[in-house]
Amino acid sequence: MCGIVGYTGFQDAYEIVINGLRRLEYRGYDSAGIVLEKSDHSLEVQKTKGKVDDLEGIASQLKGTATVGMGHTRWATHGVPSDRNSHPHLSNNGKIAIIHNGIIENYDTIKIMLTDKGFTFQSETDTEILVNLIQYFMDLNAETDFPTAVRFALNEVYGAYAITVMHEDYPGVLVVGRLGSPLAIGIGDKEYFIASDASPFVEFTKEAIYLEEGHMAIISLEKGVDIRTIVENSKIQPEIQELKLSLEQIEKGGYEHFMLKEIFEQPKSIHDTMRGRLLVDEGIIKMAGIWDHIEKFKNANRIIIIACGTSWHAGLIGEYLIEEFARIPVEVEYASEFRYRNPIITDKDVVIAISQSGETADTMAALKLAKERGAFIYGICNVVDSSIARITDAGSYTHAGPEIGVASTKAFTAQLTILSMIALKLGKHNGNLGNAEFMNLIAELDAIPKKVEEVLTATHELTQEIAKDFINATNFLYLGRGYNYPAALEGALKLKEISYIHAEGYPAAEMKHGPIALIDENMPIVIIAPKKGHYDKIVSNVQEIKARKGKVVAVVNKGDTQVSAMADYVIEIPETSECFSPIVASVPLQLLAYYIAVYRGANVDQPRNLAKSVTVE
Ligand code: F6R
Repeated sequence: MCGIVGYTGFQDAYEIVINGLRRLEYRGYDSAGIVLEKSDHSLEVQKTKGKVDDLEGIASQLKGTATVGMGHTRWATHGVPSDRNSHPHLSNNGKIAIIHNGIIENYDTIKIMLTDKGFTFQSETDTEILVNLIQYFMDLNAETDFPTAVRFALNEVYGAYAITVMHEDYPGVLVVGRLGSPLAIGIGDKEYFIASDASPFVEFTKEAIYLEEGHMAIISLEKGVDIRTIVENSKIQPEIQELKLSLEQIEKGGYEHFMLKEIFEQPKSIHDTMRGRLLVDEGIIKMAGIWDHIEKFKNANRIIIIACGTSWHAGLIGEYLIEEFARIPVEVEYASEFRYRNPIITDKDVVIAISQSGETADTMAALKLAKERGAFIYGICNVVDSSIARITDAGSYTHAGPEIGVASTKAFTAQLTILSMIALKLGKHNGNLGNAEFMNLIAELDAIPKKVEEVLTATHELTQEIAKDFINATNFLYLGRGYNYPAALEGALKLKEISYIHAEGYPAAEMKHGPIALIDENMPIVIIAPKKGHYDKIVSNVQEIKARKGKVVAVVNKGDTQVSAMADYVIEIPETSECFSPIVASVPLQLLAYYIAVYRGANVDQPRNLAKSVTVE
């Protein structure tokens, strides 16, 4: 949460920072700000509550005035979204500016100390404490230079941060540091870029350094990139990586929203997830991360899946898959609960973390805990080289490409694809899955991208029509059974997060243990009812709903008659094995949520109060 961008070079820093902030707006969009180094080296700050567009409205006169600067787009943690709480923050002497992504947990004690020394504060943020702590160290000893003061200050704080700091007495210099929040440095020809991810500078350079945990860097045209450890000040040799990201991947490509683009990318993203792994002709699934550690999986007492949000829903489906095919017991945990409940973990456990961003603070902390207690930890991440991908013992990337819409869509179906392959591979290896069944299943999985394509074509207009009838709905129930119970949870989450309509997902049979009390003619109920998956039971559930006049939107297989005859709205999807049906069934639910939100005038790519990567707990 929060996006940071910095630049030192020869181009217009205003343009680079503003365009970069637009690409990082998915990380937070409560407020935005910019600081530029003017020709006399003084710092000019403009900031405002609102989005990057609002910032442009007050700052466009800065265009073409500087070649060094930085900017911030905020997801509020400490202090409400307001002009005052927006970044950049200046130190009391007005010489130092900071932008920060993360949270300083001990800001209270530092604030008391600084207040005692005469410092005053303009905002309610933790970040303003940090910039003044830097000034404090410079004031304390004239020998302490700016980078050293940043290092001293970082050694005093705990929490999570990615920061960039400028000082007007150090023209052209950007000092950055990271602990728990991501930070990339783009290496251009006579120019350097800084950003929370590489998207702001992808058109300028393909070379980047991903700053490691606990490292800082002093960046200037004169001296290049000088990387140090924050604690010991030891010099580090940077590892320059080649960026795989393309501009096309991070643009909307003619779609109205990133979310719609990403929904439509799913045939390709699922295919990319399987590419080089699912080899139907050879009858194998190749996954080096699993194969290299197959004994760990084989001898595991159990697998614990930890994740948050949509990734947690994928984890629930993973539990069904792994238990069914590999017959290894699986527990699925919310990372935020797992990390604080003193869980029993042994070196016989395999812990799988699922995270699109690879930066989610709770998932990261839960993994660290599991690692400390001796578990083998495995990551399923979308963002390459993300923090979770780095701390795990092994893992599989989903390869879904950048997901920019805040509501997760293609990352979810890619996670399901990876989990399917893991379950089938483990099942085959440990002999629970016979060859014929394995061959059938991998052929079915291989056909999923095509089926998703079919669903997109067949349901795009239909979901728009259905959505129109629910613009004014205030509640929704989503029901499913077996593999499609987590798909119902995910359908409900998609709707509530982007349309702000209250929605709950339930196992269909649980309906009669409470939620049925809510059902009347005003209650829309989305029910996932494929043929292979307790169909007869679902038929009874639909009868129970219709007896209470609920409005049923049914997701059924092509040619369905029984549920379709009772439903008010019918969405047909192609038939698959039950275990893969959540991948196909999720697609029209994503479209339905998308169009309901669009018709309600919501900003689907940037839903209120949310951010794409949750790097605070
Ligand atoms: C919902 C959504 C969130 C994330 C959750 C975990 O659409 O995107 O619920 O799934 O914040 O994020 P990752 O997967 O990045 O760990």
